[in-house]
Amino acid sequence: MRLIFALVFLAPPLVAQETTVTREEGVAAWERVFEVASHPRCTNCHVGDQEAPMWEGLGYRAGKVHGMNVLADESRIGAETIPCRTCHVTSAAENIVPHAPPHIDEAWRLPPVELDWLDKTSAEICAQMRNPETNDDNTIAELVEHIETSAFVGWGFVPGGGRSVPPGTTTDLARDVSIWGAAGTPCAGD
Ligand code: HEC
Ligand code: HEC
Repeated sequence: MRLIFALVFLAPPLVAQETTVTREEGVAAWERVFEVASHPRCTNCHVGDQEAPMWEGLGYRAGKVHGMNVLADESRIGAETIPCRTCHVTSAAENIVPHAPPHIDEAWRLPPVELDWLDKTSAEICAQMRNPETNDDNTIAELVEHIETSAFVGWGFVPGGGRSVPPGTTTDLARDVSIWGAAGTPCAGD
């Protein structure tokens, strides 16, 4: 009887401690992250050192760059030419008008050049995102926090105006990045 008690009460914590995320689960979670990161709602801004943002997934041809000669320049907000805010006003109002310049409750801008996801493979973005030297100096926990709180990411999943959306929600994406991190950030081909 005592032995059974000991097993019942000691076993669960031990089992919980030994539960780890497998490499396989980590790679599968990363593939779901890639499905989002490679979607035009993200890659239209995550364009790397190309000065112009993209207009893909909006009904134009594939590879369509932002119209009106818009350039982000080194400032990433077009300060040197025509600032993003001229058209992309800072506003929390819903984006409901198709083809109107989308806006968020944040200054619309391009990410740092190193966060280049446009036309990159899953393995390339995976290697980039697990390395603080190429992921804007973030730990995995900080990436998760960004996904949960960034107005850019939030807009990407609910862009309005009839725009297409990446699979899942910000919560799903944050969970998948956590799973990938818990598995030791594996990338296919490691
Ligand atoms: C309007 C442009 C824009 C769009 C669209 C956008 N991002 Fe970003 N993203 C940024 C900027 C700018 C940063 C740099 C961090 C910051 O300034 O908030 C960034 C950084 C990131 C980072 C790294 C965190 C960091 O601290 O730099 C992740 C992860 C990310 N974005 C995910 C996404 C995902 C996923 C989507 C699509 C659902 C997306 N972004 C769409 C502009 C954008
Ligand atoms: C002259 C007005 C104007 C300026 C300036 C401008 N944009 Fe735009 N932008 C637009 C319009 C209009 C759209 C919507 C196009 C559509 O949906 O057909 C748009 C769409 C976008 C998209 C695509 C969003 C999506 O749905 O995937 C991105 C990314 C973007 N702009 C980034 C920028 C950045 C970064 C700057 C500053 C460097 C900037 N824009 C400056 C007018 C402008």
